[in-house]
Amino acid sequence: MSQPLTTVAGISFRQPPPLCSFLFIIVLLVATFYTLHHPDATPPHLFSPNTHNSLTLRRLFLSSASNATVSSYLHSLTRHPHLAGTKPSLDTLTYVLTHFQSLRLDDTRVAEYEALLSYPTHISVTARFSNNTTVEFDLNDDVSSSSDVVTPYHAYSPSGSAQGSVVFVNHGEERDYRALEMIGVSVRGCLVLARKGETLGRGVIVKIAETQGALGVLIYDENDGGGLGGIERGTVMRGIGDPVSPGWPGVTGGEKLSVDDDRVSRRFPKIPSLPLSLHNAEILLASLCGARAPVEWRSGRVGSSQRVGPGRVVVNMTLQGEMKMKKIHNVVATIRGSEEPDRYVILGNHRDAWTYGAVDPNSGTSALLDIGRRFALLLESGWRPRRTILLCSWDAEEFGMIGSTEWVEEHVLNLGASAVAYLNVDCAVQGSGFFAGATPQLDSVLVDALKLVQDPDDVTLTVEETFKSQNNIIERLSRVDSDFSGFLHHAGIPSIDMYYGADYPVYHTAFDSYDWMIRNADPLFHRHVAMAGIWGLLGIILADEPVLPFDYIAYAEQLQAHRDALSKLLEGKVSVDPLSVAIQEFSLVAKEVTDEAKKLKEQAYSKNDVAVAAKRRELNDRMMLAERGFLDSEGIKGKEWFKHLVYGPAAEPESKLGFFPGIADAIETNSSEGIIKHEIWRVTRAIQRASKALKGGFT
Ligand SMILES: *[C@@H]1O[C@H](CO)[C@@H](O)[C@H](O)[C@H]1NC(C)=O
Ligand SMILES: *[C@@H]1O[C@H](CO)[C@@H](O)[C@H](O)[C@H]1NC(C)=O
Ligand SMILES: *[C@@H]1O[C@H](CO)[C@@H](O)[C@H](O)[C@H]1NC(C)=O
Ligand SMILES: *[C@@H]1O[C@H](CO)[C@@H](O)[C@H](O)[C@H]1NC(C)=O
Ligand SMILES: *[C@@H]1O[C@H](CO)[C@@H](O)[C@H](O)[C@H]1NC(C)=O
Repeated sequence: MSQPLTTVAGISFRQPPPLCSFLFIIVLLVATFYTLHHPDATPPHLFSPNTHNSLTLRRLFLSSASNATVSSYLHSLTRHPHLAGTKPSLDTLTYVLTHFQSLRLDDTRVAEYEALLSYPTHISVTARFSNNTTVEFDLNDDVSSSSDVVTPYHAYSPSGSAQGSVVFVNHGEERDYRALEMIGVSVRGCLVLARKGETLGRGVIVKIAETQGALGVLIYDENDGGGLGGIERGTVMRGIGDPVSPGWPGVTGGEKLSVDDDRVSRRFPKIPSLPLSLHNAEILLASLCGARAPVEWRSGRVGSSQRVGPGRVVVNMTLQGEMKMKKIHNVVATIRGSEEPDRYVILGNHRDAWTYGAVDPNSGTSALLDIGRRFALLLESGWRPRRTILLCSWDAEEFGMIGSTEWVEEHVLNLGASAVAYLNVDCAVQGSGFFAGATPQLDSVLVDALKLVQDPDDVTLTVEETFKSQNNIIERLSRVDSDFSGFLHHAGIPSIDMYYGADYPVYHTAFDSYDWMIRNADPLFHRHVAMAGIWGLLGIILADEPVLPFDYIAYAEQLQAHRDALSKLLEGKVSVDPLSVAIQEFSLVAKEVTDEAKKLKEQAYSKNDVAVAAKRRELNDRMMLAERGFLDSEGIKGKEWFKHLVYGPAAEPESKLGFFPGIADAIETNSSEGIIKHEIWRVTRAIQRASKALKGGFT
């Protein structure tokens, strides 16, 4: 349970205290105001809203870390599997809600939605071999045989039986099917067996197999769940958010489409799919006859003698599932800002898990709960952020980012008008090494935060030093694999996504447990502490800095690099000149804004008058809104919900660009020069909108 706090001050300066250049008078006023409104609260206040004491505050935040509390939160959250929409998942809701309520933050509430979730009721796979024996596969990976871990399945896979010969399709990429075609093998009327590769998600593997005429899909992973026999569960829904309320919030009592509606059914695959253990997959692989696997497929456990089929083995996969409307629950805890309560810094993590969820996602949840605990301590010692901070715990992320997406859809206008940044942590700790993705204007504030946090694996270094010597790359957030997607791709909020460890072998398996965490990923919870430190600090800095620490020169440079990569890909066949001109303009505005910010920052600390405050607020708003410029009301063709034209889901299935998704799609589908040009113009106009927003005014 959470730490009991005796005196958490619900301090709220509804009216900012009178502005005055004499600090002591302010402190006096603040103290009086405070005491009048909170007779039971106990000063002293280390941090009155008008003293610039940020370094002390940041040190205090870091020193309040505790690996013991984080580990106890994780232990409590991972006692039982807690798939969204099930009873144990409500227990995690209560746990998180009670924790935030006990901290007595300004407001803690549940945002409830009703969404269509998908569960298995009966699954079987039988294989009939050439010796006439029929084998029914064991499809579970839960060794403890307690029945509360859901059988590995693909959410939103259609119910039904598919029977046919098996064809091995390597990673299931389009080029793999082309390679099969070269050796005269078609998958039409067959079941395909695919091994998970680096590039394609399970949903895309199924989509391509469907296009190729396969009857069903079996997917396995050569990692074998870290050698433990783990099997990867996951969703195969297309797009994100509740399928029956596409584009609008799935509030209870609100409009829901019928499952048969084309807008709903097109988001589900037409053919069934299932995950299979490595053991079962290799039984099938060993029984295949037919042509040898193409040379380029020979890697990992696929050797030169591997045959691709079809033949010798016939598989019957049968899948009964149910799609049900379920209540899902986000928790949103609020720490009200003192001076700009209507500007928001949002920290978010999901709570629901396929199984026990020790890595995914509750390593992040335990970090979020600890940040809440530590923010409450800071509040108690007199701190109050300038801007409002929201701590959010999302539900049903595993089914397709549903909890966060519905919330973003419900609040899209308010987010657009007032959200400064969204900071996402899903799997806080899956292994070693710090990794992050960000929109480019946040790169420098992220690196600054890393400089303040001690490396969890080497006390002589900061996270920044290790990060620099190891990967040193901040990714761009075009992926659609966690809750930042709605915030960035739909609402245009500057975003960061962070994790420790590049990946982990027990992903979505029954082995993602507390026990696995302490044996493999973070025995002493020092990495959790580091992540909570970085995440919480970023929250404090973005909420407290009078002038937002956004670096638009870095954004301009990144756009320039994207333009260069695009130009290279196009080999001069289509001109990128409009883009170049727009980026040049953006670059100039970014420089002006940077100078302006520098001046205002100096003034902000010396001269606290109304005129400076107004100027600062106006500049901050321009920097906040510039990201929204990249949104386009029409969105990306074929994926119109995704509105961001710089970062968004890359052209499927094998994109060469990790940015400008609309242009990438046009190029990769061999569109006419006219269409590619149009897409270039759309990005051009998006960058022009961002420049205008950053510049402000109408000239
Ligand atoms: C399998 O059964 C079929 C039909 O019942 C029969 O023709 C065939 O000889 C059997 N094969 C083996 C290996 O027993
Ligand atoms: C039949 O073949 C399968 C696959 O090769 C094998 O696992 C099984 O043991 C065989 N059964 C018999 C009775 O030989
Ligand atoms: C596949 O198995 C299911 C369940 O055992 C059965 O109902 C179905 O008829 C089988 N399909 C075929 C084509 O034999
Ligand atoms: C916390 O860290 C200390 C120092 O490394 C260690 O002794 C302790 O066992 C850790 N606690 C937990 C719960 O891991
Ligand atoms: C696009 O053209 C290339 C080269 O002509 C070809 O290999 C590829 O299959 C085409 N792609 C599509 C989606 O038509």
